[in-house]
Amino acid sequence: MTTSVQVDLQERSYSIWIGTDQWNENLNRSLEAFQPIQHAFLIWDEHLSSIRSAIEHSLSVRGVRTQDYRVSSGEGSKSVASLSAIWEAMLTARTDRKSVVIAIGGGVVGDLAGFAAATYMRGIRFLQVPTTLLAMVDSSVGGKTGINLPQSKNAIGAFWQPHAVLIDTSVLKSLPDREFRSGLAEIVKYGVILDPILFEWIEQNVAPILARDSKSLERLIQRSCELKAQVVSNDERETTGLRAILNYGHTFGHAIEAITTYGKYLHGEAIAIGMTMAGWLAAEKGLWPKDSWQRQTSLLERLNLPTRCEPAVDCEAMLAAMQTDKKNEHGVLNLILPTRLGEVHSVKGLALDDVRRAIRAFS
Ligand code: GLY
Repeated sequence: MTTSVQVDLQERSYSIWIGTDQWNENLNRSLEAFQPIQHAFLIWDEHLSSIRSAIEHSLSVRGVRTQDYRVSSGEGSKSVASLSAIWEAMLTARTDRKSVVIAIGGGVVGDLAGFAAATYMRGIRFLQVPTTLLAMVDSSVGGKTGINLPQSKNAIGAFWQPHAVLIDTSVLKSLPDREFRSGLAEIVKYGVILDPILFEWIEQNVAPILARDSKSLERLIQRSCELKAQVVSNDERETTGLRAILNYGHTFGHAIEAITTYGKYLHGEAIAIGMTMAGWLAAEKGLWPKDSWQRQTSLLERLNLPTRCEPAVDCEAMLAAMQTDKKNEHGVLNLILPTRLGEVHSVKGLALDDVRRAIRAFS
């Protein structure tokens, strides 16, 4: 069965189509957002050749001219050099302002292809086809696109919404286990920040989720996309503070990723540790009941996600990394902390010693 989630953004509104083994039907539905379509430029992760061929074939049958560009897997592709090569290839392929970019891959390809679409000829339409759980529930929805500079992740970018998102859970069957669990961390995050019913549902369905039961995955992805869509619809450009709630666990998590030079933890793993630290801090400060923090920790552990840094990280280096986080304002540390399951608040100016204790408690 296909379900869809609407992202309401006035003239930039779009649908997310979610199904399992429904590529053709849902590609048809997604393409309705692009009519008329004469040319598509596919940017695809090197490991997704079969999906790329299937989509390219379906487009050719519909009379759409196609070209494709293969991107190497890994964060290294989110670079100025890759972007520049893509712009050149788009030009050579006679991509014009009516063409459509199709991004097939995880967060790296989605961010890179989305930014290429945002910048080519001042912006052309694009379709996201996320193929990792993390990209399905987070990066493919909401229009954040961009690339890294050697010294700063996501330093260059633009808000550029896709015209449609096509999610097929069949691709998750072959996703490596760590990557799959990394996506689950962001889904637990949605439960903690916005939806206690989702949180409880995950608690009660750990076995089918870990077995990658397609119905369970569709339900988790649909609910996560609905929650993210609500947030994005109300604060598209992260100006009111609402969208910032999606950063629960991320100030700690980004710092863990940065000081381990992005080599030890996958994003969702670092976020699981980050949520453990942030939740513990909230409980210590009397903002969040301790038993809610314990429920969060226990759920993360049942999903085989890490809840501490092993080996320990250097506390001062981590604190320094947290202080350079993009989300801070005027140098003041800004943390999203839970107050009850399904509700978080932005807390500014916490004592650095409290933050140090949270880091040391889990590393
Ligand atoms: N991943 C956080 C956001 O999209 O705002």
